[in-house]
Amino acid sequence: MRSHRRTTRVLGSLLLVAAAGISSFAAAPSGAAASPTVTPLGQIVPAPLKAEPAGPGFEITAKTRIRVEKGNAAERRAGEYLADVLRPATGYKLPVTDSGGSDGIRLRISAEPANKALGAEGYRVISARGSLTITSWSDAGLFHGIQTVRQQLPAALEKKTRQRGPWRIAGGTIEDTPRYGYRGTMLDVSRHFFTVDQVKRYIDQAALYKLNKLHLHLSDDQGWRIAIDSWPRLASYGGSTQVGGGKGGYYTKAQYKEIVAYAASRHLEVIPEIDMPGHTNAALSSYADLNCNGVAPPLYTGTEVGFSSLCVKKDVTYDFVDDVIRELAALTPGEYLHIGGDEAHSTSHEDFVAFMEKVQPVVAKYGKKVMGWHQLAGANPVKGAVVQYWGYDKTGAAEREEVVNAAKNGTKLVLSPADRAYIDHKYTKDTPLGLSWAGYVEVERSYDWDPATYLQGAPADSVMGVEAPLWTETLSTSAHLDYMAFPRLPGIAELGWSPAATHDWEKYKVRLAAQAPRWDALGIGYYKSPQVPWPGK
Ligand code: ACM
Repeated sequence: MRSHRRTTRVLGSLLLVAAAGISSFAAAPSGAAASPTVTPLGQIVPAPLKAEPAGPGFEITAKTRIRVEKGNAAERRAGEYLADVLRPATGYKLPVTDSGGSDGIRLRISAEPANKALGAEGYRVISARGSLTITSWSDAGLFHGIQTVRQQLPAALEKKTRQRGPWRIAGGTIEDTPRYGYRGTMLDVSRHFFTVDQVKRYIDQAALYKLNKLHLHLSDDQGWRIAIDSWPRLASYGGSTQVGGGKGGYYTKAQYKEIVAYAASRHLEVIPEIDMPGHTNAALSSYADLNCNGVAPPLYTGTEVGFSSLCVKKDVTYDFVDDVIRELAALTPGEYLHIGGDEAHSTSHEDFVAFMEKVQPVVAKYGKKVMGWHQLAGANPVKGAVVQYWGYDKTGAAEREEVVNAAKNGTKLVLSPADRAYIDHKYTKDTPLGLSWAGYVEVERSYDWDPATYLQGAPADSVMGVEAPLWTETLSTSAHLDYMAFPRLPGIAELGWSPAATHDWEKYKVRLAAQAPRWDALGIGYYKSPQVPWPGK
């Protein structure tokens, strides 16, 4: 439950090393004589499983080709994406070709055992004189390998105009695979509406750090953001404002599909959330029938929580839920549909349980799996449900226990501890944007925890991964999102991807600092935390 306590705390340097089930190797420092423009192999975020420097490495030149196999559409897509990344700043043609030959950049997807051994999202990069090879079992793995190559190149690569090279990549081999299958971020497009282009920008930022889930918080008290044909006023009226009273907005189905397709092209699965039974004022204002008293409340543009509830006892509520979930499921190629369930303070516990008993099967009926905030753990989560833990250091034992017990009974967990992973929170009392009900979340605090041991008593294998929610009560522009996500989002991405054995704040902060020129080149304005040794500091 949200409290509005403001507390400052200082976290001691706590090093948590998980007894992870996969073998892991710390990234080796480069032994090669590094020119200032060559990033040592493996000095990237997230830290790779294994990096073995060797030899002089690869240089992209005007003659470089990107080689894919004839007839392999996934390799070609990856090749075109890589070319789009490399062409503006290098100014080179970089043709994508299937004409054979072994020099240049080679992209290969194959089910050979060495690739399968790195898992569905793993990849291998071999950088040598004359050739750079990225291999994977899957197109997602190839894409992640491309992000690695991108980070091994000079930051000026990210500029949109031609820059001076050379474009060298340190020599050697990187083998990499994620620790967790769920590595997400959530964008709250309800408190403030963000356009399709703003969401795409955020997707690209997440993809650079190998995140693979975009949770979209599509409805809340202040705004309903997705067109639902059978209940059109949800979007046209319920989407017509936002926090502070601005004009809000919503996605047409075509626009929403564009977001989903763009995310898929970056190998992120979109998980749509319709928050229920609380956080529903926008829906309640749009349709009087949904209210127990039959009276539609006014639209809401403030930032309080917990005052709204769907009418659990009315049949029309379940017609509404069925229609919304059916239409949303039809727009969702991914596995999960998030039904919220947090802060239902205006719904009795008995009603909350009854509501979730009726709603969870609707998600299954339309072919999706249930995801919910961790309050769902107190309401008989269905088999296969995932609960998202958003407690913090002040969360009561009973509430934690409920989640731990659900995990022991097979419910999977996504961890978003509010005092660590909530990237909507203020960094310090003096930083300008964000909330602070869970305390201040400086960069070290956000990074320095271990998902495997965070919720004591929960089996380590109940943890599917991590997610960084970006709530937007105080955020209304892409510049605001940038400032909150950077530099914390890469840290949550590293917790989700990198082996526990690589976890080390002192080393991480140096790799993180080295990202700053890349953010500058991308036009990302970040928080210059005094905890991080930024270049030139
Ligand atoms: C939440 O922050 N209410 C999930």
